Amino acid sequence: MNSIETDTYKVHFNSKGYEELNRYIDDHNFSKIFILVDSNTHEHCLPVFMSQLQTRTEFEIIEIEAGEEFKTIETCLGVWNALSELNADRKSILLNLGGGVVTDLGGFVASTFKRGIKYINIPTSLLAMVDASVGGKTGVDLGTVKNQVGVINSGDIVLIDTTFLDTLPQNQLKSGLAEMLKHGLIKDKAYFETLTDLSALTLNDLDDLIYESVVIKNNIVTEDPNEQGVRKHLNFGHTLGHAIESYCLESENKEQLLHGEAIAIGMILECYLSAELLEFSKTDLAAITKAMHSIYKPVLFEDKDYAPIIELLKYDKKNEHGNINFVLLEAIGCPKIDCLVSNDLILEAFSYYNKSTT
Ligand code: GLY
Repeated sequence: MNSIETDTYKVHFNSKGYEELNRYIDDHNFSKIFILVDSNTHEHCLPVFMSQLQTRTEFEIIEIEAGEEFKTIETCLGVWNALSELNADRKSILLNLGGGVVTDLGGFVASTFKRGIKYINIPTSLLAMVDASVGGKTGVDLGTVKNQVGVINSGDIVLIDTTFLDTLPQNQLKSGLAEMLKHGLIKDKAYFETLTDLSALTLNDLDDLIYESVVIKNNIVTEDPNEQGVRKHLNFGHTLGHAIESYCLESENKEQLLHGEAIAIGMILECYLSAELLEFSKTDLAAITKAMHSIYKPVLFEDKDYAPIIELLKYDKKNEHGNINFVLLEAIGCPKIDCLVSNDLILEAFSYYNKSTT
């Protein structure tokens, strides 16, 4: 697969990616390499990665605990302290080997340590390959509210090695697939339709589909790196999806959802809102709902869930002047930003979702 090059970073794939990484490290004369892993990627991915890394530069491994609940400023404190104790200086580099928590948190730690050291993302989950690791969004959660603290700052390289997906559980693969489906819904109907019929999928096809998703995401973030306009399209499904994800994380009566599982629900709800407010095709709404249900397990929402979920919308990062700004769809491939939605219509959307699960 060809590399994707922008003015600020490059995305390299598979074996060529390791060649490029080794060359980059050789060229930069780093004082020390730090590799950030979590307990899962330490066991399953680090041995593969180390077998490909060819360098004489001294390196250290820093491990954090695995899971969204550890995407916190306290975990950052642990990593900042480890870097400091292990004598990291401004010529050190941090390699983030992991899923979205490791790449987001590691990117933030690197962007702030000594006011910024270089970092590279090596995403090991599908979600991190097609979304989190590309475009320079870094940060941590604040309580259960997602990604409230962070900066936009890209590492020089993203290295996508799709063989890491071999060890990934099905539910994690589906979580990443949700972001790929989103890329189809905001940009490319044919791509969306291919993704909803994966019955004849081979590993080669998966590589091509991942590549296509990275191209869609990369084109958007290159046009609007600081999310002033088109980058907001990437938030389709996320206004309600993030609120649902946070609610399920803190609620005792709900099972915790993976990011993509929550975003899939958010996309159904926001397609419903699109059909009500923007004449989005009802036929497409029905087809998308059916496709999402064929992949993701349904969640039953009850009356008591709605007020807290709506309350959580106030933390959405697209909000301005107290307004909650949704990204909705005029059609598949035609997103519209800054749409205002009444709470009554949100309740109607949940009612549509609940009925669609039976
Ligand atoms: N994950 C959405 C973005 O990078 O803008």
